[in-house]
Amino acid sequence: MPATAIVGLQWGDEGKAKILDELAQASDIVCRYQGGANAGHTVVVSGEKFAFHTVPSGIAHPGKLCAVGNGVALDPVALLEEIRALEARGLEVRSRLVISERAHLVLAYHKALEALDERSRGTGAIGTTLRGIGPCYADKAARAGFRVADLLRPGSFRKKLAERLKRVNAEIELVFGGKPLSPDEVAEEALAAGRELAPMVGDVSELLNDALDRGRSVLFEGAQGTLLDVDFGTYPFVTSSSASVLGVSAGTGIAPQRIDRVLGVMKAYTTRVGSGPFPTELNDETGSRLRERGREFGTTTGRSRRCGWFDAVATRFAARLNAVTEVALTKLDVLAGEPVLRIATAYVLPDGTRTDRFPAALDDLEAARPVYEEHQGWSGPLGEIRRAEDLPPAARSYVERLTGLVGAQTALISVGEGRGATIRLS
Ligand code: IMP
Ligand code: MG
Repeated sequence: MPATAIVGLQWGDEGKAKILDELAQASDIVCRYQGGANAGHTVVVSGEKFAFHTVPSGIAHPGKLCAVGNGVALDPVALLEEIRALEARGLEVRSRLVISERAHLVLAYHKALEALDERSRGTGAIGTTLRGIGPCYADKAARAGFRVADLLRPGSFRKKLAERLKRVNAEIELVFGGKPLSPDEVAEEALAAGRELAPMVGDVSELLNDALDRGRSVLFEGAQGTLLDVDFGTYPFVTSSSASVLGVSAGTGIAPQRIDRVLGVMKAYTTRVGSGPFPTELNDETGSRLRERGREFGTTTGRSRRCGWFDAVATRFAARLNAVTEVALTKLDVLAGEPVLRIATAYVLPDGTRTDRFPAALDDLEAARPVYEEHQGWSGPLGEIRRAEDLPPAARSYVERLTGLVGAQTALISVGEGRGATIRLS
C-alpha cells in the first residue's frame, strides 16, 4: 500500500516501532508527523537495542529515506545529539534524513518554561517528559514560535528571539520567580546545531507528494498514542499534538485522501506514563508483575509505566477514531502465566450509569469504574510461535475477543521484541 499510517491506540508505548520496523523493509520512506523528543521508539535488531526519539525508527533499515514532518516539535540540539549517537553505532543518517523547513523549533526557553510550569502545578502536574513539547506547540498556535527555516537565517533569528525572550523572561521572573535566560546563549546553541542540520533541511510535503505520485510507498510513524491526542485524548492529561491519524495530513502536508491504510497498534494489556485517568490501572501485584515481565519502563525518561488490564472501551474508541483498517496486537507473550485475564468492556460512571462509550469529561474518566469480563490465561511461553494455529487455545480466544471488542481485524501479533517475533494473520 502506498501510504500507511501506524498509530497507537492506547497511551503510547504500544510497540509501534517494532511493528513499523517489520513493515519498513517494504517501504520507501518513513516519516514522523507529530511529537518530538518526548517519544521513545525502541527497535531490537540482531539483539542490539536502538532507541529513537526524533529520528524516524525506519533509519534502522539501511537505505531507507526518513523524513521529519512540519508537525514535529523539533529540538535541533537533541536531534543532532541523536544523529551523532546513531552514527557512532554505525548507522548512516545524514544522507537519508530530510527535515521539514516548516517544523517548529523546541528551544532552551521552552524547556525552562515547562520545568517551571510543571513544578508550579504541584500535585496537578501533567507528568510530562520535560522535553519542551507543550510550550513549543503553544508558541506555534500563539504565532510566537520559530521554525527550522528561521534557523537558517541567523540575523533575523537572533533579532526575533531577543524580542521573544523579553516576554518569556518577564514570565520566568514575575510569574515563577525563576532566573532569566540569556538571548545570546539560547540563540547560539540552536544556531550551532542548525548549521550542522542545514544540509538535511527540505520541503517534506513536496517530497512525499512527489513520492506518492510516482507510486512509492510511505509509512507514517505516529508517536505517543490516541489517548494522548490533544483533541481526543484524556485532556488535559495529553501531549500537545495530534497523535492519532488525524495529525498525519496537517503534520506532513499530504492530503487525507492520500492515506490508504491505517494500522492501529495496541498492547495486550494497558500502560500509561505520567499522570491522568487510567480506569483499568492495577496498583497491586498483578500490575507490578506486568511491569517487570513487560519491562515497562520509559524509553525517554526511565520512569516506571503504570500498568493495567486491557481496556476495550478506550481502545475501541481509538480504533474507530483512526478508522483503522487493521490492528497489530503486541506483547501477548507478556501475559503468559497469568491465571486469569480481565478485559474492561464498559464503565460505570459516578451517577451510576453504565456506558461503553469513552467519556470526554475528566471527572467521568477519573471516577469510571471498569466492568470486567474474565478470561482464562495460559502458561506456556509464546516467543517462538509464528503461526496463529500454534498459539495455546486460551491465547487464541483472548486475541479473538480483543479483536471483536475493538471492531477491527488483527493482522499481526507480536510475541517478542526482536525482528521476526511476529505472527502474521493476513
Ligand atoms: P509531553 O508529551 O512531554 O508534553 O507529556 C505529556 C504526557 O504524554 C505525559 O503523560 C507523558 O508521560 C506522555 N508521553 C509523552 N510522550 C510519550 C511517549 O512517547 N510514550 C508514552 N507517553 C508519552
Ligand atoms: Mg515509547
